Amino acid sequence: MAFEPLPIEDARREIVSCTQIQELEALRIKYLGRRGLIQDLMAKIPMLAVDEKRLYGAAVNDFKNKLTAWISEKETLLKTFKGSDPALGCDITLPGKKVLLGKLHLLTQVKLEICSIFGSLGFKVFDGPEIETEVNNFEALNIPLDHPSRDAFDTFYIKSPQSTVHSPQKKEKNKNHGPSTMDRRLLRSHTSPAQIRAMQACEPPLAIIVPGRVYRPDAVDASHSFMFHQVEGFVVDTDIKFSDLKGILIAFAQEMFGSKTKLRFRPSFFPFTEPSAEVDISCFLCEGRGCSVCKRSGWLEILGSGMIHPHVFKSVGYDPRKWRGFAFGMGVERIAMLKYGVTDIRLFFENDIRFLEQF
Ligand code: DAH
Repeated sequence: MAFEPLPIEDARREIVSCTQIQELEALRIKYLGRRGLIQDLMAKIPMLAVDEKRLYGAAVNDFKNKLTAWISEKETLLKTFKGSDPALGCDITLPGKKVLLGKLHLLTQVKLEICSIFGSLGFKVFDGPEIETEVNNFEALNIPLDHPSRDAFDTFYIKSPQSTVHSPQKKEKNKNHGPSTMDRRLLRSHTSPAQIRAMQACEPPLAIIVPGRVYRPDAVDASHSFMFHQVEGFVVDTDIKFSDLKGILIAFAQEMFGSKTKLRFRPSFFPFTEPSAEVDISCFLCEGRGCSVCKRSGWLEILGSGMIHPHVFKSVGYDPRKWRGFAFGMGVERIAMLKYGVTDIRLFFENDIRFLEQF
């Protein structure tokens, strides 16, 4: 006959957490009393086979010795301190203080989730500096100084003895002085310049993501911040097609927002990709029927993407006749706001514990 495991751990826990002498007495009766558990267990011994008797008997005996020792230790403790101990300045009968564990900021959680999804798709993480050169942030990405799209990337320039502060009025002057050769420093306005650094540092084929902070002189409001986070991604190989971009982004979006998520690619323009597309996901709240989050459209914009422009390949010394690639860039705050229903970007940076502890 097999016997049931003895409830040693439960008994120990009960004795350890007991705080009153009366409570301890009740436990003594429950376990060691004349009609207690140990007596019950002993009563089963005669029903066992001879070889089991010895094993089982020894186990019950050991349990009984443990109980006796624990109860007597606890008794000494409770009698000594009688509830409170002025010498120690504490009341040992009070429940313990809850240890508050820290956790990762929601943006860090979302960034790690994005990196882990792309990691499982074979992408490696690359890190680029937040202080960038004007060449990497613009020229090498096929955004020449007089290109109108620069206005969309309004930028914080860094004052240095050799450089001047960028402002629209100074554009003309800068043009005459050939500012691209001056290569001023700036706070990167997107993570795309890391494409340039990664391609210069590594031999293709490449599948890379770059998470990081970016800066734009935007007035702060519910949806704008002068500093926010992006994740850039790109792949370079000899036979990359637009359908590869679609496949990767569908896999990402379904992992991030649920397997029913649909994607919509809208033709768009970015100087560093051709063709370019903005990508929307079907609204995961209303499943495309239309709600206040998707502004009744059924779609939510999540990123920009496209096939890497041959000029970008040229600027890093890759032969554009040989190499093909796709790239995409997404805002981490935007993804976090959509996924977790955060309605104001400023909440991420105020560090109000009541907000942070919800995630
Ligand atoms: N750099 C763009 C921005 O900040 C986002 C982007 C769009 C990145 C298209 C890309 C891309 O790599 O292909 O708005």
